[in-house]
Amino acid sequence: MTRGKKQETRNKNQGARDRVRNECFTFAHLKLENLSTCILAIESSCDETSASVCVDGKILSNFIANQTVHEQYGGVVPELASRAHMQNIVPVVDAALSNAFPQPPTPNPQLQTPNPKLQTPNSKLQTIDAIAFTQAPGLIGSLLVGAQFAKSLALALNKPLIAVHHMQAHVLANLIGDNKPAFPFLCLTVSGGHTQIVLARSPLDLEVIGETIDDAAGEAFDKSAKLLGLPYPGGPLIDKHAKDGNPLTFKFAEPQIPELNFSFSGLKTSVLYFLKKQEPGFIEKNLDDLCASIQYTIINILLKKLKKAVQQTGVKNICIAGGVSANNGLRKGLQEMGEKHGWKTFIPPFEYCTDNAAMIAITAYYKYLAGEFSSLEVGPSARAEW
Ligand code: KG4
Ligand code: ZN
Repeated sequence: MTRGKKQETRNKNQGARDRVRNECFTFAHLKLENLSTCILAIESSCDETSASVCVDGKILSNFIANQTVHEQYGGVVPELASRAHMQNIVPVVDAALSNAFPQPPTPNPQLQTPNPKLQTPNSKLQTIDAIAFTQAPGLIGSLLVGAQFAKSLALALNKPLIAVHHMQAHVLANLIGDNKPAFPFLCLTVSGGHTQIVLARSPLDLEVIGETIDDAAGEAFDKSAKLLGLPYPGGPLIDKHAKDGNPLTFKFAEPQIPELNFSFSGLKTSVLYFLKKQEPGFIEKNLDDLCASIQYTIINILLKKLKKAVQQTGVKNICIAGGVSANNGLRKGLQEMGEKHGWKTFIPPFEYCTDNAAMIAITAYYKYLAGEFSSLEVGPSARAEW
């Protein structure tokens, strides 16, 4: 390509970007006044490809494709995850749109269709007012697939783009449905990569007041499960076996960490050294009690810090979020603690605990209302700062 041609292409791209940016504000203005807001959201931060459609904060569809390819490796293989996202993303978005709109909706006459080719058969896409995607944190290759797909769609459809932080979205999963916590609330977010206590003053005013200094709670579950010979991800399997075990049979290390921070690497080491001392066949014979005791220790560490956070902030609306919030022991433990201390507790339905695009959609909805849009230059980031 000649230099002149390159410049021409650059100018054309810039023009398209400016158009999308300007339209963001036009759409926001229009919507806030008299129209409902429809968001298509994409989540691809780790090993689930998910898409969701949300109208005015109500989730119409939440489609999730799990990647089983990682099971044989004992953990997520980033390159395989990216490839699977590339295979999954089109059918997953298609399924989310079809579930949300079984009949093709009538395109909104107030929104101009910039490209007539997009009117049919893609009229489902024309009802979408904004495209949201997980921007950070996560595996960079996985994030890239979702980000590029969302950006391409935003550019092609001339719709605004909304970048969403995955950890913020886990917290706001609690705003899906009718039983929402009032602000301010505390959220214990426990996932495979992060463990945080978040003080939420409003949907977009969130502050991390405590976090793990090493392993996340989900990692503690998964690494302990691996030591017990269970496949990845081991968290749900520990949960399953723990139901039939006695949590007080074995005692594992509970680290003493200052303030509202957590540490789980000592627990993993304590399980490792304990198992090394045992006779062959010990794990098989004691699997349920081992799982129950490990789970009990993790939950104890989490709930003790949550209690401290309530004492420090005086906030008594308490939520949990993230993959580990699907754990039955934690859900029960939180409820019991809430009853004992007079907290109002909120636990998201299972489908909104592990990674899902509905939580991205609900977060994007609040960002839309606040006029927080992204330019097409925004790139994904593996890092967790927010
Ligand atoms: O939030 P999530 O789906 O993905 C990340 O953002 O990391 O969390 C995944 C983590 C994994 O570590 C998995 O083992 C754990 O959540 N997990 C559970 C349960 N279900 C998922 N841990 C304990 N009990 C469960 N029932
Ligand atoms: Zn997550």
